[in-house]
Amino acid sequence: MAKKIVVFYYTQTGQTLQVAQSVCLPLAEAGHTVIYKEIIPLQPLPYPCSGKSFFRAFPESREAIPCEIQPIDLNDAADASLVIIAYQVWFLSPSTPFHAFFQNAAIQQYLKGKTCITLTGCRNMWVMAQAKVRSYLRDAAGKWAGHIVLQDRHPNLISVITIVRWLLYGKKEKSGWLPAAGISAADLAHAAVFGEIIDGALRSGNWNNLQEQLLAAGAVHYKPAVVFMEKTGYRIFGVWAKFILRKGKDNPARRDFFLKLFKYYLFVVLYFIAPAGLIFFYLACPFRYRAIRKDKVQNTAN
Ligand SMILES: Cc1cc2nc3c(=O)[nH]c(=O)nc-3n(C[C@H](O)[C@H](O)[C@H](O)COP(=O)(O)O)c2cc1C
Repeated sequence: MAKKIVVFYYTQTGQTLQVAQSVCLPLAEAGHTVIYKEIIPLQPLPYPCSGKSFFRAFPESREAIPCEIQPIDLNDAADASLVIIAYQVWFLSPSTPFHAFFQNAAIQQYLKGKTCITLTGCRNMWVMAQAKVRSYLRDAAGKWAGHIVLQDRHPNLISVITIVRWLLYGKKEKSGWLPAAGISAADLAHAAVFGEIIDGALRSGNWNNLQEQLLAAGAVHYKPAVVFMEKTGYRIFGVWAKFILRKGKDNPARRDFFLKLFKYYLFVVLYFIAPAGLIFFYLACPFRYRAIRKDKVQNTAN
């Protein structure tokens, strides 16, 4: 029997919508009604954006401070059998439009008891953002059923360069020795498989082993070394974000000054400190095998 699926998304470049559409294509083909609801910030991040606007999103994303968004019409969404939340990561946290979404009282009420699937489109660091999204869903009493992550699979330091080139200069395509930025066309095409799995769960009404099936189909590529860098970065970002919010309160020029410092800090960490930390990580791997495995299960399974 055909069901109704509501997809909530926000996108700066169009990528997150593409991810959602790729997953939902088989669902629409199977006869289900798929309704897309865009989350629209009152002051959207343009594409391409300046370095300044890019970094200005940092403290609020990390500290879960919502931006202002347009009201979302839920009138045709009440009888949805499935809610798909397609979000992106900003500075290791959900983007500010999603903080706004999850902190909205009407949305919290709406999500109560709803079966939800989370979809992440990002560069390569999503674990902490997903933990936050799961906690938002728990608070709203939504029933989380599965998670799919589509990411840039190039090496970390390469994707840092290509994402900057993409988001700040609008150049997504491959050029010279640099690959194309973002999620590959092959990964987007493969995402249809996840839609077919979701269709099976919709038809049977059994959501219990959906995540297991999604994992078996490659819905999450988990890289322990990247997670190690991310978790360390997440803690330090928290200190920076609080500091910038405090120092920059009522003083935009001072705030921008500290954001500039943060930018330089980030560059040094990414290219000099993180690679050294990785050597430590790999050396410690044989002794931390069980902890790493446990972490992986915690971050990917139900
Ligand atoms: C301000 C900003 C910060 C970002 N921070 C991260 C991050 O910490 N980790 C990550 O994997 N991707 C990060 N990204 C990439 C996004 O998650 C996303 O993949 C990209 O912006 C394209 O999504 P969209 O155009 O659909 O919004 C960031 C993007 C922006 C604009």
